[in-house]
Amino acid sequence: MDTTILDQSLQTVQHQLAIEAIDQVMILGSGWSDIAEAFEIRAELPYEEIPAMGAPEVRGHKGRLLLAANNAQSFLIFQGRRHWYEGLGWTPVALPVYVAKCLGAKSVLLTNAAGGINPQLAPGDLMVITDHINCMGHNPLVGAHNTIWGPRFPDQSTIYTPKLRAALHHAAKHAGHNLHEGVYVAASGPSYETPAEIRMFRMMGADAIGMSTVPEAILASAAGMQVAALSCITNHAAGVTNAPLGHEEVLAATREAMPIMKAILHHVVT
Ligand code: HPA
Repeated sequence: MDTTILDQSLQTVQHQLAIEAIDQVMILGSGWSDIAEAFEIRAELPYEEIPAMGAPEVRGHKGRLLLAANNAQSFLIFQGRRHWYEGLGWTPVALPVYVAKCLGAKSVLLTNAAGGINPQLAPGDLMVITDHINCMGHNPLVGAHNTIWGPRFPDQSTIYTPKLRAALHHAAKHAGHNLHEGVYVAASGPSYETPAEIRMFRMMGADAIGMSTVPEAILASAAGMQVAALSCITNHAAGVTNAPLGHEEVLAATREAMPIMKAILHHVVT
């Protein structure tokens, strides 16, 4: 992780958006970008202008940082994320969490698209992440110890803050919807998994799978922030049904779930 670029990027964000501090930060995954329409947007900055970020290469990730407001809360929305599989190291993945920490955010809300491993999860369902399994084969905290990320060996026994999980359920109820809960496993991607891998992940206790979120959750929790994470189940994971997997299906499922996703996030940030 390159702290010089992280610091330059932080300065760019502060300067361009004219902000000193922020209440919270949202990082939007595949297909989640339009959530931003639920909020009043005060300023925006394309990722290309943030040194650590650059333009995201994945469709469904808009690549814009927004300064948003809802009632008395002001927060940042990262409209699209960078992934480990893009091969650029941890710096672009860590930047949103670094910015959150340095600007005093108390919490980070992560969203993603995920494949349902648990057969009870169907495309269009939303799942609050209760815990995770890191099967990326990497950890973003590897490297020289930087105290911004807490102690050298951070406790990760409660990454996903119970109070925020309850707030997501409450917001969903308010929108007339029920959320699932489950364990998310992160694989590095970019290939989807094989049916044999999915059977192994099921035996390990995973309910849903994706290629993101876990690194940001590890960093945000280590840095002492509260973490909430919400998955949109966009497909049955490989081998759960015979349906072939593709990014088109992932984006179509998030499009369909968009009204409810918007209602929940709008209500949760009040
Ligand atoms: N596997 C991994 N990542 C994903 C999936 C999946 O089935 N669906 C959406 N993101």
